[in-house]
Amino acid sequence: MKILVVGGGGREHAIIKKLCENSRVEKVYALPGNGGIAEIAECVPIGTKDINKIRDFAVNNKVDFAVIAPDDPLVLGAVDLLEEAGILCFGPNKAAAAIEGSKVFSKNLMKKYSIPTAGYEVFEKAEDASEYIAKTNSFPVVIKADGLALGKGVIIAQDRTEAQDAITSIMSDRIFGESGNKIVIEEFLSGPEVSVLAFTDGKTVVPMVSSMDHKKAFDGDLGPNTGGMGTIAPNPFYDYKTAKECMERIFIPTINAMNAEGRPFKGCLYFGLMLTSNGPMVIEYNCRFGDPEAQVVLPLLKTDLLEIMEAVTGERLSDISIEFDNGAACCVIIASGGYPSSYKKGYEIKIADISPDTRLYHAGTTLSDSVLVTSGGRVIGVTATGRSLNEAVDKAYKDASNVNFKDAFYRKDIGVRALKYIENTD
Ligand code: AMP
Ligand code: GLY
Repeated sequence: MKILVVGGGGREHAIIKKLCENSRVEKVYALPGNGGIAEIAECVPIGTKDINKIRDFAVNNKVDFAVIAPDDPLVLGAVDLLEEAGILCFGPNKAAAAIEGSKVFSKNLMKKYSIPTAGYEVFEKAEDASEYIAKTNSFPVVIKADGLALGKGVIIAQDRTEAQDAITSIMSDRIFGESGNKIVIEEFLSGPEVSVLAFTDGKTVVPMVSSMDHKKAFDGDLGPNTGGMGTIAPNPFYDYKTAKECMERIFIPTINAMNAEGRPFKGCLYFGLMLTSNGPMVIEYNCRFGDPEAQVVLPLLKTDLLEIMEAVTGERLSDISIEFDNGAACCVIIASGGYPSSYKKGYEIKIADISPDTRLYHAGTTLSDSVLVTSGGRVIGVTATGRSLNEAVDKAYKDASNVNFKDAFYRKDIGVRALKYIENTD
């Protein structure tokens, strides 16, 4: 089979490595891929938003199966274009991808179908939003741009001035462009966060092993938000009882709601959850695998990924059983100095003495005259697995110190909160 994978980050590297375990896979094209993916796939310089070019490439190269991994092409309708051209595709169509592409859509969906989430109001005019903020007394308050904003569209405003500034930046200064045409102002929730990725074919929903992201740039959850500085799986806060409750009150109702709206969701649905004192609530949906959640979830997947993806596409997910290893995984992201603000690119990456079972998932890397150099903010994710979380974390850190380039940095406390929780509950 010839497979096409759209995307060029650590998530796509993890997906491609997993797909290559299937002996039916003869060739993988990555659009655009990166310096690490180039070792196992042919990288083609087509951007993830160029959905017409993606379709033309797939048709011209007689691709048998396509996996659209990032949010942008899904929300723009890449799956619809490929399917019209007769190419089997893993990922939701444009109508279903709105669950991530529009926060207003997803919040209204949850309200209509009584799926637990933070209370909210939608605003289309800056004046109306300002008037609301002038009257409310509940701070902090959470302000979200409606559309995609590179993971930066959520602002937690501590007081009235910060809230007003957020409204001005999003709706008047248009820092996120059209994504700020509307905003959601929502109630601030607190509690441990859990990411649950689930395979679904629109009828059956199969949650994967849970995970925990570490979104802030620096140790102790300090500094600015990033795309994610590291992950662990499973997430110890997500116990059996919580999982059962989420299945009944969130996962199945969401799949049913999307069907009732005439937008059946097929692909990987990401539930960003917060375990509040009033029970689990949805913070956000993503219409795709999380990054860097995929880098800890996929190494624990025992079932063949291509078989699962084909079952999703063929709407026969209930026919297969999906198994995960009962060990643990930890991914530590090595980033460029200055990330998530400005940083330099083009530094040579030196990798020494990595344990044979550690996985290096490349993100911002490229080959320049056969030399591996940095080309992005998040450069490489170091994933280790182990029988316990403790073992996985130790192994990941041992190898993280062996990935070196100028100004590299990484968080030293990935998994620490989870380990403390495990220690206290044992
Ligand atoms: P996102 O960019 O959508 O992944 O959101 C970034 C982060 O904002 C989430 O991981 C949460 O930590 C936080 N967040 C979003 N919505 C809320 C909320 N209603 N209450 C508290 N924190 C929130
Ligand atoms: N790690 C969060 C995301 O993929 O959106």
